Amino acid sequence: MILGLLGLSLVLVLAFIAWFLLKYGHRYIGTENRHKFFAEYFKDFPIFHNAKTGFYKKELFKPLHEMESSFPELRKEKGIRILEIGAGPGANMEFYPKNTKLLVADPNPFFKEQLESVFKKFPEAELERYVVAGAEDMKEIPSQSVDAVVSTLVLCSADGLQKIYKEIQRVLVPGGKFFFMEHVIDTSLSATKIAQIIFGSLGIAQFLFDGCRPDKDIKKELEIGGFASVDARRFRLDLKEGVPLAYSGVYLIQPHIYGTATTFKS
Ligand SMILES: C[S@@+](CC[C@H](N)C(=O)[O-])C[C@H]1O[C@@H](n2cnc3c(N)ncnc32)[C@H](O)[C@@H]1O
Repeated sequence: MILGLLGLSLVLVLAFIAWFLLKYGHRYIGTENRHKFFAEYFKDFPIFHNAKTGFYKKELFKPLHEMESSFPELRKEKGIRILEIGAGPGANMEFYPKNTKLLVADPNPFFKEQLESVFKKFPEAELERYVVAGAEDMKEIPSQSVDAVVSTLVLCSADGLQKIYKEIQRVLVPGGKFFFMEHVIDTSLSATKIAQIIFGSLGIAQFLFDGCRPDKDIKKELEIGGFASVDARRFRLDLKEGVPLAYSGVYLIQPHIYGTATTFKS
């Protein structure tokens, strides 16, 4: 009886310590170390993710290649200005038109060097500005200053989605489009959805992947986000061929959405 009580107490204490570390451990590790680790871990992930999503990304970003800039000086050189939030190591450069002027808002400064090295492969594109900031507050980006905004695999990590949508609407030209591809909570009850809820609500995914929460209903948040229209389609990552051990977390993020949200014309 006494041994049983001791055993139970031990389990409870260990469970509390695990919960505490997951919830508050990142404070002790420090934001800088967390960012550094994640930038290193994530460096080559886009090669894996683009191999699974390239088909959808080509379709998603096709309108960028047909887009005329709202800015006369850019129109002359057949360029457009894109703001990418959370660009990370530059997963989307290969899908952009060659004369792209890119602005980036990313709170992780350790991705900047990786992104700059990707630009060497696209000499006609230009990294106009890299702002170390979350997309919730992009005061350094002027209002109505970009033709398009892009986000891929970012909104899972951000707390203030409605604030981000307001900022996107502010920086876009009237009638401009927000292009997104994000992983979302599964639609129906499944092993994936249960795992997403467990890993998300216990803070395990956020702890391991720099804030990423796999159980967010980003589609629903977009639909109440104040855009004139939202066109979001669903697909799942095809993982039949297996996943490298280091990326096993992708089983949690199989359900994706991609599409556009359009701002009002005036
Ligand atoms: C999972 S990575 C995705 C990188 C890249 N977009 C891709 O598709 O591979 C998430 C990125 O979002 C950035 N991020 C996290 N929170 C953010 C926020 N509140 N606003 C903007 N970017 C954010 C991270 O620093 C990181 O670069």
